[in-house]
Amino acid sequence: MSADAWDPEQYHRFAAERRQPFDDLKALCMPVPEGTIVDLGCGSGELTAELHRDLRAAHTLGVDRSAAMLAEAARWAEEVPGLTFEEADLSTWVGAGVDLVFANASLHWVPDHEGLLARLRRSLARGGQLAFQVPATFGHPSHVLAAEVAKEPAFAVPGGHDVARPGDAVLAPARYAEILNALGAVQQQSRLQVYGHQLASVEAVVEWVRGSLLTPIRSKLDDATFDAYVDRYRERLLEELGQQRPYFYAFSRILCWARFP
Ligand SMILES: C[S@@+](CC[C@H](N)C(=O)[O-])C[C@H]1O[C@@H](n2cnc3c(N)ncnc32)[C@H](O)[C@@H]1O
Repeated sequence: MSADAWDPEQYHRFAAERRQPFDDLKALCMPVPEGTIVDLGCGSGELTAELHRDLRAAHTLGVDRSAAMLAEAARWAEEVPGLTFEEADLSTWVGAGVDLVFANASLHWVPDHEGLLARLRRSLARGGQLAFQVPATFGHPSHVLAAEVAKEPAFAVPGGHDVARPGDAVLAPARYAEILNALGAVQQQSRLQVYGHQLASVEAVVEWVRGSLLTPIRSKLDDATFDAYVDRYRERLLEELGQQRPYFYAFSRILCWARFP
C-alpha cells in the first residue's frame, strides 16, 4: 500500500493530451512581469516552469502534496531562477500578496469550492488573478464505473474510497461565475470545454485514469488487490462501451479565470 499513489511516469503517458487545457488556462492569464505566481497542485513541475517563464514572473512557487511529484519538480527549481517548490496541502494552503494563483487539474481533489475560492482570493495582491481548470467529466462511464467498482465488496475499504469526491466538489461553470462575482471579480471568464482525445482503444482509458482518477484508490489497496480492481474496471468499461479502436474520449473540463481589484 502506498501513501503517495501519484506516479509521474504514469501521469505523463498522456502528457500531450493533458497539456492542452493547461495551455488554454495559461492563455486566459495576463502576464505578471516581476510578479509572483503560485501553482497549486503543480505536479512534476515542467508546466510550472513554463508558466513562470511565459508570464514573466519573478518568483513562482509550485505547491503539491505528492513527494513523488515534487521529487521530479526539484530539477526544474535547480534549472530555472525564481522557481521553488513546497510540499503542502491545498485544502489548507494560505498565501499573501500573490499576483496569480493558478491551479490546473488539482482543485477537484478538495471539497467546498466556495470556501476554497474565498481563501484563494484572500491570498491575492491588489489586481491579482485567479485561474483554475477542473475536470467535469464525472458522468462519463470512465468515472461512473471507477466509483461503482470501488464499492464492490472485493475492493471496499472502511470509510469508502475517495473516488466519488472529485465529482462532488466540482460546481457548474455558472456557479463558479457567481462565486467569482460575489468575491469581487472585475473581469472574469468561466467556460465548459470538451477536449476530444483519440485514444488507441477503450482500454487506453484505463491507462489514462490510472494516472489520475484512480490514485486515491491505489493509495488504499495493496498491489494485488489494486491490480484486481483495475482488471474488473477494464471488464466493466468494455461491457459498457464495447471495444472501439480508436476510441474517442470526450473529456469535459471547466476553465475559470478572474481578476480582482
Ligand atoms: C492531475 S495532477 C495535475 C498536475 C499539474 N497541475 C498539471 O497540470 O499537469 C494533480 C496534482 O494535484 C496534486 N494534489 C491533489 N490533491 C492535492 C492536495 N490536497 N494538496 C496539494 N496537491 C494536491 C497531486 O499530487 C497531483 O500532483
